[in-house]
Amino acid sequence: MAKFFSLNTGAKMPSVGLGTWQAQPGVVGDAVVVAVKAGYRHIDCAAIYGNEEEIGLALKKLFEDGVVKREELFITSKLWCTDHDPEDVPVALDLSLKRLQLDYLDLYLIHWPFRLKKGTTLSGENVIPSDIPSTWAAMEKLYDSGKAKAIGVCNFSCKKLVDLLAVARVPPAVNQVECHPCWQQKQLRSLCMSKGIHLSGYSPLGSPGTKWMNSNVLSQPIITEAAEKLGKSPAQVALRWGVQTGHSVLPKSTNEDRIKANIDIFDWSIPEDLFARFGEIEQARLVRGDFVVKPDGVYKSEEELWDGEI
Ligand code: A2P
Repeated sequence: MAKFFSLNTGAKMPSVGLGTWQAQPGVVGDAVVVAVKAGYRHIDCAAIYGNEEEIGLALKKLFEDGVVKREELFITSKLWCTDHDPEDVPVALDLSLKRLQLDYLDLYLIHWPFRLKKGTTLSGENVIPSDIPSTWAAMEKLYDSGKAKAIGVCNFSCKKLVDLLAVARVPPAVNQVECHPCWQQKQLRSLCMSKGIHLSGYSPLGSPGTKWMNSNVLSQPIITEAAEKLGKSPAQVALRWGVQTGHSVLPKSTNEDRIKANIDIFDWSIPEDLFARFGEIEQARLVRGDFVVKPDGVYKSEEELWDGEI
């Protein structure tokens, strides 16, 4: 099993990345150090996570101590929804680079297809119509400049991806979306494959620590049964299912043992018969986007946000 997936830019993206959403300040820096020492070469960040500065300090120390070189790492960050205006896009990237103490990103993503009024917070009344073609043109300039070695999107439905491809000069390298055994993204996966876009999976464990997501991924009988048979944890089985299916996985952890366990998925595999049974798992989207839906707003329903792919 490949430890890397190839992007349409020719770059190699490590198949397991450390997720940093909800990785609290005060512990996220140590988590990055532990992860890199355990063999992670991919860190998934975002401006909105509010922890890039601490991640930057950890990276600087890792480089200074000779643990890893910049060019051996794959660092992602994301453009927040208040920064979709074309003139704000390069400023937002520069701020992420400054916080991360880097001079380029391996991947820069539009975090969500929806746009928020400048200076506002995440809520339905702050959503304004987006203009993805103009935001994307600004992303393309970052790619041209070399400050973002690859560009892509997150949370794009099949429809939004097709619309973007129709106007893109530089096609997106990645669509980062919720993906785990209980939301396998079959339709989006086949579209991405046919267009040469890499699907990257966030919440690959179903975010068990996030109450509002109400996840039961790790207690799915097919997963716990496979875990028992293989002598692995349900989390390892969920992650192995992801890379074996063909997408990168971005498990978040700030716990040393779990960080190490989550990358220990390469010297074993899920046998074909067990793997096939994952197709029986009932499917449900956990991140539904209800936080931007408003009956008289830009997105009147979750169906509208996801173009019916829900
Ligand atoms: P913690 O940081 O304490 O390890 P996801 O990546 O799907 O969003 O899931 C992240 C959540 O899963 C966090 O609450 C994290 O807690 C927890 N987690 C991470 N790794 C494991 C694991 N190996 N087993 C169980 N829970 C895990």
